[in-house]
Amino acid sequence: MPSSPLIDIVAGARPNFMKIAPILRAVAQRRAAGSTLRTRLVHTGQHYDARMSGDFFTQLGIPEPDVNLEVGSGTQAEQTAGIMVKYEQLLLKERSDLCLVVGDVTSTMACAISAQKLKVPVAHVEAGIRSGDWTMPEEINRLVTDAITNWFFTTSEVANRNLHTAGVGDERIFFVGNTMIDTLLANMERLRPPPFWAEAGLQPGGYFVMTLHRPANVDDPAGFDRLLKAIAESTRGLPVVFPVHPRTAKTLAALPGKPPGLRAVEPQPYLEFNYLVKNAKAVITDSGGVTEETTVMGVPCVTLRDTTERPETVTVGTNELLGTDPAALKPALDKLFAGQWKKGAIPELWDGRTGGRIAEILEKLLVH
Ligand code: UD1
Repeated sequence: MPSSPLIDIVAGARPNFMKIAPILRAVAQRRAAGSTLRTRLVHTGQHYDARMSGDFFTQLGIPEPDVNLEVGSGTQAEQTAGIMVKYEQLLLKERSDLCLVVGDVTSTMACAISAQKLKVPVAHVEAGIRSGDWTMPEEINRLVTDAITNWFFTTSEVANRNLHTAGVGDERIFFVGNTMIDTLLANMERLRPPPFWAEAGLQPGGYFVMTLHRPANVDDPAGFDRLLKAIAESTRGLPVVFPVHPRTAKTLAALPGKPPGLRAVEPQPYLEFNYLVKNAKAVITDSGGVTEETTVMGVPCVTLRDTTERPETVTVGTNELLGTDPAALKPALDKLFAGQWKKGAIPELWDGRTGGRIAEILEKLLVH
């Protein structure tokens, strides 16, 4: 290893940004204390709007990317191929000593493949989680990435077990906790209401937050319409604040009408989104990361999916898996209104110090 190893920190899409911020900060802190580790921040450009990308960099104090691959929108294969080609070009121009990828988006898998084929080792943060559902592009990304990862940083014992089952030895697995939760805990005091808070008459505990963007929930207009109606019928007239992902916006615009309580808004920046979540009566979602944040904030959460790659949000946290049948919503929300939702606890090592643990291990792996 060189005396001053270079680590590529890869980020491409919205859920990556809160995961890389604590790692960059922890490596910078070690550097200030004399470490020789260097980082190169590589943005693939999978998400490129201010609302999906730039706002997160600004709010979370993430430095400007050193490189932007500017892949832009496309099909899964177009994005994968575009990122692979451009990241390979970068590595051929200036090789790094480690490619660190986070999460499960297309950029995660694409950069891992390009790196490993050029014999640049790969570290995967949030490794080992599995939904078992191959219809989710994220599950394919997780499987492929973990198949070619050298060092696995994990968020849970379940992830460790999944990796053991896949034949990964303990010496390559580091159970460090959850960097997304580092970011949440570091910003808890900075959370702030969105500009529409007062005008919409929102009160703590007096509204729901909803996020939906999985193809299974939002791509079919008739199914999406049924889902929205079931939500309206189960939320007892309380406002449902709905930051609309670009994919969902297309289906929403094509619907004949929207339920009266639904308050569709633009995708929210980090501080505003989590303020809304923290103060909500409950969250209705098909996201994975949001179920981790609700667990830590102790906010009831219903997930409209059949599977989760984050089972500890259900077994330990405040999350319940309802499946995609809209009929399941009413009984679940009746339980919520009756004050019978579980309280939940915080999973092991989700303590705000994961970035520091990762930086320390990287130093041991690359420098010592
Ligand atoms: C991606 C991730 C998903 C994550 C989600 C969060 C994969 C396979 N999926 O899905 O895990 O939960 O991000 O947001 O990587 N678009 C914009 N502006 C942007 C980026 C995208 O308008 O800045 C539009 C695209 O043109 C496209 C749609 O949003 O129409 C979907 O974007 P895409 O990157 O393909 O995947 P996501 O559905 O966002």
